[in-house]
Amino acid sequence: MEEGLGQTHALLDVRGVRKTFAAGGRDVTVLDGIDLRLEAGRLTMLKGRSGSGKTTLLNVLGGLDRPTEGDVWFRGRPYREWNDKQLTLVRRREIGFIFQTFALLPLLTAWENVELSLRMAGVPRSEWRERVAHCLDLVNLSKRALHRPSEMSGGEQQRVAIAKAIAHRPHLLLADEPTAELDSQMAARMIEAFRRIVETEGIAICMTTHDSTLWEAADVVYQMVDGRIAEG
Ligand SMILES: Nc1ncnc2c1ncn2[C@@H]1O[C@H](COP(=O)(O)OP(=O)(O)O)[C@@H](O)[C@H]1O
Ligand SMILES: [Mg+2]
Repeated sequence: MEEGLGQTHALLDVRGVRKTFAAGGRDVTVLDGIDLRLEAGRLTMLKGRSGSGKTTLLNVLGGLDRPTEGDVWFRGRPYREWNDKQLTLVRRREIGFIFQTFALLPLLTAWENVELSLRMAGVPRSEWRERVAHCLDLVNLSKRALHRPSEMSGGEQQRVAIAKAIAHRPHLLLADEPTAELDSQMAARMIEAFRRIVETEGIAICMTTHDSTLWEAADVVYQMVDGRIAEG
């Protein structure tokens, strides 16, 4: 399917994904037939109890882990067609990741941390200044540009991590429990930044969370139960 023909494909299309792990001499099924689509410009949340398979699914969505059965299609192509080296390149250029702990370099300022991501992605130096300023503005941290991580709150550090993860213009941002270490006010500000990003940058964001106060900010919420998914 080509967008030029008037049809659109989902940014990410998950079809019949199963994942089993061998544990203690037997197979444990962690993802048990997952179908879902992530669209550009949408904030999707995955909720579900601890152990329901959220992190495993996020890893499969980001090509960090391969499914046992089924396929993940990214921009109209299945991950299956890429070897590990190609998949690493796709991840580096087209996907951003955020984790529970804020992956910032402690000796660099907020500005330098974001700039580093542009350098690593091979973005021309002439574009750095404008893009770093824009990304720090998106997460409402223009005033903290020259601060180092130790001089910022946890919530501010997490927002720098977001600016860093989207600076190179990935199509997809994946975030595993990004608010777990934040108080409710900081979590709300993080979600505001996510909303600004999906609306203005046109990327898809998929995050996992336990926090029921955040779900109303999502465009789509999926609930995971024992490795299966239900909308709701
Ligand atoms: N590498 C692995 N080997 C064996 N079991 C695993 C592995 N990774 C995850 N699991 C199991 O899969 C289940 C789902 O884990 P996870 O995806 O981390 O859930 P969640 O993020 O929703 O808490 C858990 O029972 C966990 O023990
Ligand atoms: Mg998890």
